[in-house]
This record gives sequence, structure tokens and C-alpha cells, in this order.
Amino acid sequence: EKFAILMAGGSGTRLWPLSKEASPKQFIPVEGENPMLVQTVIRLSGVVEPERCFIITNLRLTDITKNTVRKYIPEENILTEPERKNTAACIAYATLVLKKRYGEGVLCFVPADGYVRDKDSYAEAVKQAFNTAEKNDAIVIIGVKPSYPADGYGYIHAGPETDTGSGISKVLDFIEKPSLERAKQLILSDDYLWNCGIVVGTTGAILRNIQKYLPEHYNKLSEALEEEEKGVSEAVEKAYGELQSISFDNGVLEKCAESLYVVRAYFDWDDIGSIDALAKTIEADPDGNRVQGRHIGINTTNSIIFGKDIAICTIDLDNMIVAGTKDEVLVCPRDKSQKIKMLVDKLKQQG
Ligand code: GDD
Ligand code: MG
Repeated sequence: EKFAILMAGGSGTRLWPLSKEASPKQFIPVEGENPMLVQTVIRLSGVVEPERCFIITNLRLTDITKNTVRKYIPEENILTEPERKNTAACIAYATLVLKKRYGEGVLCFVPADGYVRDKDSYAEAVKQAFNTAEKNDAIVIIGVKPSYPADGYGYIHAGPETDTGSGISKVLDFIEKPSLERAKQLILSDDYLWNCGIVVGTTGAILRNIQKYLPEHYNKLSEALEEEEKGVSEAVEKAYGELQSISFDNGVLEKCAESLYVVRAYFDWDDIGSIDALAKTIEADPDGNRVQGRHIGINTTNSIIFGKDIAICTIDLDNMIVAGTKDEVLVCPRDKSQKIKMLVDKLKQQG
């Protein structure tokens, strides 16, 4: 049986003030419509039935997650982690819980905060990954051609295709978030692909690798789930409290690279790491403005205007970002958006 699990428990403050700790980026609308989380559920609906579509998030985000996806997936399909311990814990825990509930199957973990324009080609790649994982009892990841030397992504060194024209290869190496220098080198070769964050694997292959490379994760979480079944409450909380916070990419994929398969995909994909990236999902109006929410403008051009539950009113602006919620408004020239991180740090210092 096929399962999809959306990972939606990360933080992410680069889209401040639209996203913040209490409402991270998966709740922001893309293409000016549905929140990214809902878009991801819809995008997967052609591949996995809604009853087999799960979301894993943490305690603090459970309510907002339930409200956001109410119309799409059953409430019991929202899995809650007691705290944020990065994707290794998230994948280990979800795999163990699903195995207990439904037995073995093929699982597809997807980040809930990305954006994909070409939905058909995405669905096709995910289907191929499911088939490859099942056939080889392995973990399969999905790679796309890099378009610039990003240092915030994982890179997959793909071997020759297993069957010519199939787009499927064995992985030779996996490099999570290389330095900028190294990234510049890697993209010179056609054999290096960006990891778009999707992990497909049989229950067996996922657990085998976690047991081998992160034995503490495997042991603590399996024991906690058994204790919980016997009625020991807070066993999972206690185990989480003791777990190392590490990503699945660093903790497992880099270590078991040579046992992985990769599907080469062609959808254009963006993890929406900045306000500019978010703006690109919205079509510009005749004045060159990309607007989400209500905007009343006079002589306002080439600007990014995002209002969440407030109207934004502007006069004589060009090339500016105005993004606001009921609590905070950001005003900044478009070419200075990389400084938002500094601002968020400063805000944190002031408490
Ligand atoms: N439930 C849960 N619990 N979800 C989590 C947790 C957690 O502790 N930590 C992160 N997530 C979710 C995030 O919300 C996101 O949807 C996804 O898992 C990936 O986590 P990120 O923190 O956004 O990872 P990244 O962007 O730094 O790197 C990953 O994604 C890149 C593509 O966007 C890696 O897989 C890279 O190799 C990849 O290139
Ligand atoms: Mg990310």
C-alpha cells in the first residue's frame, strides 16, 4: 500500500512577517490562493488516496494544521510530534507509527512548504519513485537540474541510468548543503542534481537505514511506542526529549548514499525561501505589482505587496516590498530583501 506523509513541522523565518514561529511558511498561500500545505495535498491527490495522505507536525501547530486541511484529509491522519527534532526524528517516528497502524507499505515523505509549477510532471516523478522503491526495496529520492549554485540544498551525484531513458539511476554520492565554493563546482557537471526533499521508501528500507545509522532514534522511538501501547503516557515525549536534532539528509542519506536510487525529474521547483520567490508564484498586474491580499495604490509600480488580513495602501512607490500582518509591517526596497534575516534576529533579541 502507498502512503504519503507531508512533513510540516519546520520553523522558517525568512518570509517574516508572513511566516513566523506560530504560523510557518506552509500556511502562506501560493499562486495567491491555497496555503502551500493544501497545495501539496492537492498535488499528491493524483498519486495517493486522501485516506492514505498524512501530515506530521508538532504540538504547537496541530490545531492550525487541522483547521487548514479539514476539507481534504481525515483528522486522524494528522500525526503530532511533541517537539521539533528535525526530519530524522520526524521520518523515524512517522514510519514506526504507520507500521503499527497499517503494517508495511511504501511511504513517500514530502516537504510541505515547496512550490511546483508543473503538477503533472511532479506526480509522474513521484509515481516512478514509488515503483522504484517497491521494486528494489530501497529508498528513492527525486532530483532536478540545478539552476544556480545554491548552498541551501542537497546535491545528488547520479550514476548512469539503470535502463536507458528511464530517468532512474543509482546514487553515487549525496552532499547535503555544500559550501558555496563546492556548489559552484558541482553544478558544472550534468550528473549532480538538486535534492528536492522528497524521500520515498519501503517501510523496511527506511527503518533498516535508521537502525543502522541512527540507532538511538530507532531504539528510543520503537521502545517509546511500545510503552505507549502498554499505557505509559508521555513515553514518546520523553524519547523526543533525548533525541539528537539532526536532518534525515545528514543523518541517513549522506551515509547510505550508495544504496539509494534517484529519479531524474523535470518539474521546476522552488522551496520558497524568500519573499521574492513567493512573489514569483503570483502573476504581475499591469503595473508590475505582485499582490496578495487587498491593495489600494496610487502610482505604485513593480512592487511586492502582501497583506494578511489587512489592506495595504500605497502612494508613489516603485520597486518596494510591503508585507504586513495585523501585528507587523515590513517596508523594504526589493533589492534589500536578503537583510530580512538580520531584522528577524534583531527582533528576537528585543524579545
Ligand atoms: N514534522 C516535522 N518535524 N517536520 C519538519 C521538522 C520536524 O522536526 N523539521 C523540518 N520539517 C519539515 C519542514 O517543514 C519542511 O517541510 C521539510 O521538513 C524540510 O525541512 P527544512 O528544514 O525546510 O529542510 P531544508 O530546506 O533545510 O533542506 C531539505 O530540503 C531541501 C529542499 O527544499 C533537504 O532535504 C535538502 O537536501 C533539500 O535540497
Ligand atoms: Mg526547506
